[in-house]
Amino acid sequence: MRTVVPVVERVVETPSTITLRFDDPRTARPGQFVMLWIPGDDELPMSLAYVGARKGVTVKAMGSTSRHILDIPVGAPVGIRGPYGTSFDVSPGRILLVGGGSGTAVLAPAAEAALANGSTVTAALGATTRAELLFEQRLRSAGASIAIATDDGSAGERGYVTKLVEGLLAENEFDVVWTCGPEVMMQKVIAAARPKHVEVVCSVERHMKCALGMCDACSLGPYHVCVDGPVFPADRIASLPEFGRSKRAPSGRSVPA
Ligand SMILES: Cc1cc2nc3c(=O)[nH]c(=O)nc-3n(C[C@H](O)[C@H](O)[C@H](O)COP(=O)(O)OP(=O)(O)OC[C@H]3O[C@@H](n4cnc5c(N)ncnc54)[C@H](O)[C@@H]3O)c2cc1C
Ligand code: FES
Repeated sequence: MRTVVPVVERVVETPSTITLRFDDPRTARPGQFVMLWIPGDDELPMSLAYVGARKGVTVKAMGSTSRHILDIPVGAPVGIRGPYGTSFDVSPGRILLVGGGSGTAVLAPAAEAALANGSTVTAALGATTRAELLFEQRLRSAGASIAIATDDGSAGERGYVTKLVEGLLAENEFDVVWTCGPEVMMQKVIAAARPKHVEVVCSVERHMKCALGMCDACSLGPYHVCVDGPVFPADRIASLPEFGRSKRAPSGRSVPA
């Protein structure tokens, strides 16, 4: 059922990314998403960047609807369906978190919950440039160790975050890697972790309509990402021909992922 709630906080996170907070008492787990409806526009799946009673979604300007979301002011109504989908297992462990761009949004609440449960968390954050780094301070304050890579070298190492991951996996022991970002990045993370026999868990995105497992818009091989995911053990999806290669467009046509 959709509820309509007012936006109670709007935080500019980076030049291209904002967080909208709203009050919603429904229970949510880190990794789950909501369907965010913008009156007069569309409904989009958005991961919960905050999962408590004051929830939040962190949105990057991409195309038409997400750009519209960036203009929503405090007090404006938004519709919320959910939370939906699978979540991260936040029981204690040694966790390497790999976030590419806005992918860090879904990893941050999972890292906070795991740290509160006694885990150690190392966060490898990738962004195009220093100003686009997401939730660095939030993760540091929660107790995570941070490693950074930017495409232009303005913060941390110059280059892709996957280069950092190889070094971190070589020098440290981890029980699990959580990753969210472009699928080509997640494929590289899976390849780097495989020789070390470290489990990888991915959060993936697909076009969604019903979010209830009924319309097939979000199919990924035999799975519906809305109910079987979005959080998947890499073992289940890494060898699917679509992963990292194709997804369905709004029309249902297959397009590059
Ligand atoms: C589980 C999940 C979690 C996500 N979490 C986040 C997040 O935390 N932060 C974030 O910035 N983005 C997130 N996304 C991506 C987001 O849903 C959009 O795909 C993205 O913002 C681009 O939408 P757009 O309207 O800007 O793009 P456009 O290319 O302009 O979209 C074209 C049309 O398709 C619609 N559309 C686009 N993507 C989707 C979609 N996935 N499902 C249904 N309709 C769509 C648009 O509303 C528009 O009508 C998530 C996606 C999924 C599946
Ligand atoms: S969005 Fe309809 S089946 Fe997943």
